[in-house]
Amino acid sequence: MADTFYVTTPIYYVNDKPHLGHVYTTTVADVVARYHRLKGDDTFFLTGVDEHAAKVADKAAEHGLSPQQWADQNADAFRVTFDKLDLRYDDFVRTSSGLHKEKVTEYVGALLKSGDVYEGQYEGWYDAGQEEYVPETKAAANGYKSDVNGKPLVKKSEKNYFFKLSAYRDQLLEHFERHPEFVQPDARRNEIVNRIKEANDIPISRTGSGGWGIPVPGDEEQTIYVWVDALFNYLSYVDQDGRRHYWQSGATHFIAKDILWFHAAIWPALLLALRKCPGYDDWHGLGPLALPKQVYSHSYWVSETGEKMSKSLGNFLDPAAIDNYVEEFGLDALRYFLVTRGPLGTTDSAFSPDLFIEVYNADLANTFGNSASRVSNMIGKYFDGDSPSDEADVSARFKFELPFAKDSGIDIDLTSFEKLILGQFAVYSSFWGHSAPGVCARSALDIVAAVDSYIEKTAPFKLAKDESKLPEVGTILYNAQEALRIASVLLWPFIPHKVEDFWQRIGCGHYAEQLNANDGKGTGGLDAWVIWGQLKPGTPIEKGDPLFPRYQVEKK
Ligand code: MSP
Repeated sequence: MADTFYVTTPIYYVNDKPHLGHVYTTTVADVVARYHRLKGDDTFFLTGVDEHAAKVADKAAEHGLSPQQWADQNADAFRVTFDKLDLRYDDFVRTSSGLHKEKVTEYVGALLKSGDVYEGQYEGWYDAGQEEYVPETKAAANGYKSDVNGKPLVKKSEKNYFFKLSAYRDQLLEHFERHPEFVQPDARRNEIVNRIKEANDIPISRTGSGGWGIPVPGDEEQTIYVWVDALFNYLSYVDQDGRRHYWQSGATHFIAKDILWFHAAIWPALLLALRKCPGYDDWHGLGPLALPKQVYSHSYWVSETGEKMSKSLGNFLDPAAIDNYVEEFGLDALRYFLVTRGPLGTTDSAFSPDLFIEVYNADLANTFGNSASRVSNMIGKYFDGDSPSDEADVSARFKFELPFAKDSGIDIDLTSFEKLILGQFAVYSSFWGHSAPGVCARSALDIVAAVDSYIEKTAPFKLAKDESKLPEVGTILYNAQEALRIASVLLWPFIPHKVEDFWQRIGCGHYAEQLNANDGKGTGGLDAWVIWGQLKPGTPIEKGDPLFPRYQVEKK
């Protein structure tokens, strides 16, 4: 039965244009969403922009524009960048939209009524770059400077509304205990758990926003704190008929490590508080308002010198630089590199142009691209471009170990592609659950590598010289082509455009039609398409240009 899958990215500040860091998280979410669509899950993928930050209003003023005008321009820049990369989000959040404002007013109104939001006075520190209130101990530990950009913290003393975070400590800790998968990777959990134990109530409103933001219900002088406004996007955009089941299925939030506290502590506490309010205890007849299933906090892309890529440090890849990569190597190469070599785990990744080229050549040009050309060329040459049949039995003649069989724990001979594929498919399917798409891509490429070894060892190009051996050549090429077809299905979330070209060439164009024409609801294609033996003998196999032409590095 199909599952439901809801995946989100942070909503990005529109004080500036997008850069590689934003593209990264959105690409990861897109790859994961595509996997779920391929698998047949009812999938919803949300990204968008966070508009009500004070720094957005400041930037707008610098440019002589209203905050809304500035936000409109930059929101468009994000959308254009994501659309160019064919990132298939299902909706694009704008926190200045009527829908979002109305919902946030409703949520905060309910919390005011229940008493979890109350009026008080804030005395303390504020990190303007991060839009974050900083507790005294943390501020002192960092010399009253931002631990992210090193700028001095601002001293604040103002009337505020507070959220009773402290009342939710025990429930949060219990949730962490019961759901160890809630915060991933594991190594990030302890830091949050320790901080929750000491959590105080937090200010969730500010004054003097000049009308930029969502007013606290019943108090027009106060604006809802941008982080509370922003976190609610994950709920507000699916809080409508036909979408609420996505929320209830448990969201997967992809974010970077700098904003983990908001997502792993404040966000579930707000939801727990809301769940106690009338209407949310049984939300539209769907049971108590759900908590997210997982907050996945990745590390940073850093420059080759190890600094975080960011606008303020001026070392980021901006949309123009991203366009250059796309022009030179293609969309899929960029996606593939970001997702398989990016900082999904707990260590930062350096974006190095040399590594990019190395990965492109090794994983795409020399592996999938090369195998696809090689097999289709031979089918062209020996079988007039029609897929041969696999009737001749070649198993007795060609028996040998797979080069990587020991690593993958599969003990087979090279003719047993079926077994190989089942093994790799099991690895592939389980590692999506561990947010390790790099391992998933590798398991598909291992199938391609096996095809290469198979061709090397069986040498159909030699056998073909003897006409009586053509049936055996046919079986070999059938096996190779069929294994590539299956590998291509597994690679689709990573390199969808090239895979779709490949499908056209091997008579599987209908896969793409099914995947792209079903409104994101999933096809159930994965299990069905991975079954061995679906390539029909006689299918025309086109040769076509190399899918990933090898990139020649100019010698200095
Ligand atoms: N608006 C808040 C998020 C609110 S979510 C309810 C915000 N915006 S941001 O524009 O600063 O974007 C932060 C996100 O961009 C990170 O969480 C991460 O997803 C992505 N990245 C920004 N710089 C990055 C790197 N250098 N490396 C990897 N990801 C990066 O915080």
